[in-house]
Amino acid sequence: MDFLIKLDNLKVVKNGKTLIEKIDWTMKPGESWAILGRNGAGKSTLLQVILGYIKPYYGSKIHYFGDMSLFFNIWDIRTKIGYISYELEDMYRYNEQGIDVVLTGFYSSIGLYEEPDNDMIQNAKGWFSRFGILNLMDKKIKNMSQGERQKVFLLRALIHKPRILVLDEPFVGLDIPSKEEILLMVDEIGRSGTSLILTTHLPDEIVPSVTHVLYLKNGKPFKMGKKEEMLRDEIFSEAFDCDIKLFKDGERYRVGKVNLHNL
Ligand SMILES: Nc1ncnc2c1ncn2[C@@H]1O[C@H](COP(=O)(O)OP(=O)(O)OP(=O)(O)O)[C@@H](O)[C@H]1O
Ligand SMILES: [Mg+2]
Repeated sequence: MDFLIKLDNLKVVKNGKTLIEKIDWTMKPGESWAILGRNGAGKSTLLQVILGYIKPYYGSKIHYFGDMSLFFNIWDIRTKIGYISYELEDMYRYNEQGIDVVLTGFYSSIGLYEEPDNDMIQNAKGWFSRFGILNLMDKKIKNMSQGERQKVFLLRALIHKPRILVLDEPFVGLDIPSKEEILLMVDEIGRSGTSLILTTHLPDEIVPSVTHVLYLKNGKPFKMGKKEEMLRDEIFSEAFDCDIKLFKDGERYRVGKVNLHNL
């Protein structure tokens, strides 16, 4: 397969306003991408188009899974592309237990409408055990903290084994250890054959399994390429309109000194 997703001259117009445009981008098998850019750059809009929730403008083309001709509808996309977002979490009835939410991953459904077999249940339990969160199996979603809920939804994605997992700012609102735990889980998914597409503003949230970076600026692609080439001070600074020093710390990147141009 030549590509997982291919965007040709992607443009999105909403309420008469152009939100993103001129995006030519290809994600190949084996690649995982971080999409970076300032608030309002168009990151979430791009994800919504990829997921089929927003229609692109006339003339734009999105191709999936190496096929230039096949039409994929939202249901095809949903079974192959996992999505972690607050909207998804909100769709769950709040009295469901952690294990039930994870088991819905087998069916790409929101509620549990079929009786999972014993293998499925053992598989799900195995993941809870592996990440040391057996205590969340019978805890109700409504009684979980945000970080606990994030972990359960990541297990749901792991079990679903989507070709692609889309994550829109998955580490917002987490304390330092919770963020690191969830980073490890996301990285594990990225290394287990699922390609990641994640948005963030922070370089330390780019998990090691990310191979490429796409910068958006004012709705247009600013730069894209291999992670090591993209995470350089000059490019990162220009994308965020201020002088930023980046530090490489093992397989992670961190922000050092920041100088605002206008102050
Ligand atoms: N329905 C809409 N109608 C008009 N403008 C919209 C609509 N939805 C989003 N926008 C605008 O589109 C632009 C891109 O928004 P988007 O949410 O994609 O940015 P983002 O890069 O995800 O930002 P953030 O980092 O703050 O999440 C913003 O200027 C936003 O105000
Ligand atoms: Mg956003």
